[in-house]
Amino acid sequence: MPASLRRGLVIGNWKMHGSVSETEALLRQIMALCETATAEVAVCPSFVHVPLALRLTAASAIAVGGQNCSEHDSGACTGEVAAAMLAELGCDRVILGHSERRRQQGESSALVAAKCRAAHRAGLKAVVCVGETLEQRESGQAQTVVAEQLQALVEELRPEDSIAYEPVWAIGTGHTASPRQAQEMHTFIRGCLGAARGDAAQRLRLLYGGSVKAANAAELFAQQDIDGGLVGGAALDAHEFAAIVALAG
Ligand code: 13P
Repeated sequence: MPASLRRGLVIGNWKMHGSVSETEALLRQIMALCETATAEVAVCPSFVHVPLALRLTAASAIAVGGQNCSEHDSGACTGEVAAAMLAELGCDRVILGHSERRRQQGESSALVAAKCRAAHRAGLKAVVCVGETLEQRESGQAQTVVAEQLQALVEELRPEDSIAYEPVWAIGTGHTASPRQAQEMHTFIRGCLGAARGDAAQRLRLLYGGSVKAANAAELFAQQDIDGGLVGGAALDAHEFAAIVALAG
């Protein structure tokens, strides 16, 4: 499938930012600025702001997702949120395996795969993050690390899911992977998916994440295997986010 047939996708990962009023103001601005966007747009607020975001976007094309879900469907899991709870509210996707969770909560690739299964059981699309640390890249391990992260969940993936390649060293640092570095890894990822899943690999969208901003998005999105972005810091600025969305169209 030519890259042009995969619709551009930009997801804002708002992480643990924003009060209720800030979230509402940001989303209202984003909705106004992205009204005519040709790319698909989604925002992933903190769990507590998900109902607000869904209410505000009810009549817009902007989708809302969670930033994580439990691997369990329900039960004695204090502090966790089930995929079905997100789906019932109206979320259509969930970010899984973000490097911050892999590091801060010790999430393994096996756990991320179990969460991916849980998301699918609830009818959610998974946005699965993979990526290497600076140390791993400098020691020539980048592809091995990403291949291992993919290996654990490749059988779970569906064509409507997406994979976000987020090199840990590029997240929140201002050091974006060069378009060549990013494309190289995206080609590698599509190759791994293709070997395991054939045609589905061509439909799955691969997003780049890590210090994406309006100033570097055009070059990144021009790469054959980069279908959009998973945006952190720049997603908290409506104008910057809308400019990135326009470049993914
Ligand atoms: P930044 O865009 O702030 O580097 O964050 C990227 C990210 O972690 C998105 O999930």
